[in-house]
Amino acid sequence: MNKVFIQTYGCQMNVADSEEMFAQLAARGAVLTEQLDEADIVLINTCTVRDHAEHRAVSFLGRLASWKKEKPGRKIIFAGCAAQRLGNALQKKYPFLDILSGAKDIEHFSDTLDKSGLFGTPALPGRLPAPGLTGYVTIMRGCNFACSYCIVPSVRGAIKCLPPEDILQNVACKTAAGAKEIMLLGQTVNAYEKDGVSFADLLNRVSEVPGVERVRFTSPHPIYFTPDFLNAVKANPKIARHVHLPVQSGSSKVLQEMKRGYTREIFLEKIHALRDCGFNISTDIIVGFPTETEADFQQTLSLVDAVKFFIAYCYKYSPRQGTPAARMKLLPEKVLEERLDILLNKVRGFSDAAYQLQVGTHQEVLMETETKGRSSENFWVKTKKKYPVGSLVHTEIERADGTLLFARD
Ligand code: SAH
Ligand code: SF4
Ligand code: F3S
Repeated sequence: MNKVFIQTYGCQMNVADSEEMFAQLAARGAVLTEQLDEADIVLINTCTVRDHAEHRAVSFLGRLASWKKEKPGRKIIFAGCAAQRLGNALQKKYPFLDILSGAKDIEHFSDTLDKSGLFGTPALPGRLPAPGLTGYVTIMRGCNFACSYCIVPSVRGAIKCLPPEDILQNVACKTAAGAKEIMLLGQTVNAYEKDGVSFADLLNRVSEVPGVERVRFTSPHPIYFTPDFLNAVKANPKIARHVHLPVQSGSSKVLQEMKRGYTREIFLEKIHALRDCGFNISTDIIVGFPTETEADFQQTLSLVDAVKFFIAYCYKYSPRQGTPAARMKLLPEKVLEERLDILLNKVRGFSDAAYQLQVGTHQEVLMETETKGRSSENFWVKTKKKYPVGSLVHTEIERADGTLLFARD
């Protein structure tokens, strides 16, 4: 029986795609392994959102040359966004690569395996790996935006929303296999609309599937947080009160040049509306976009001060070939490094402060181990007593220490 080792880079959509690709390999008799040296197949699912991400995936592939030589018959599959961008050039540079499958081909992965003739024919049902407590469910592929720095639309293609029935069926499979929490996935996940079903409708329908205790989603885009969505949230406690809402910059001028589709003011309005519904908010920020002046950067710092994000993932701008921003003159690397340092210093204390603010509140905790779980707002909570994994525990928060809350239970 073939053993497959999976290395996934990039976002949660890639995690879900890796599961789907594994299901196709499992249908051909493969089982998962965590040990590279005992594997017969390596599946690398790659990211190219920043140069660094792509570089990590390609270096991993390079290191597999000797792994492949050790045992005849070993196979390597290089899939996902970097595979899409690099295409056949990669096959030439790494002739030992067996299959190259770009992110746009994920739905045809089964055909790709069959055409290669290397993996046999599907004889078993396409089993997904056991989902754990959280089941990842892709609801849309691709992206219809054209943010000027971003390579995702070119490697993932235009938006394709999956039919609601397929999504609900996938959710039911995950809960049947033990998932209690469902994470809906898409690059602009809250833009979902298919067969007359809006994102708000879908959230409600998913939370009605038997066994679903909590629904999360990522990544939303600020402009799709409509009153319709906010009303759905207010009426549905199963929708988790945490959103990861990338802002990218605090300067309206830079946001316009990034083609984000909102201003600083609109973003702040959305934050107020979301906080009214009890949402805890994290974000992504890019420093050193080519036209970012010192004054623009100060605007980002002041936005961060105003919002006090729960978590802010901060990135240095990385030019991506073929994107509009890649034609602009880069800022000196030293400026990028300085700005990243300043920003990271500013956001560092925010998580601890957000945890402190939870002391005295009542939380519903979904237990991930017998004594630790996550609240709806995504805070880690430690309990005194033991509870079954997957149960919901209602408790008051006694104290906070760093990024951990302690329950009074
Ligand atoms: N669809 C999501 C973001 C997906 S990409 C959204 O629009 O909000 C994930 C994150 O990578 C982005 O939020 C952005 O902060 C970062 N990113 C994307 N392209 C980048 C680039 N060229 N350089 C640096 N960071 C980038
Ligand atoms: Fe990239 Fe913008 Fe699409 Fe997000 S919305 S994936 S940043 S193009
Ligand atoms: Fe990376 Fe592709 Fe996700 S480029 S961030 S893995 S959509």
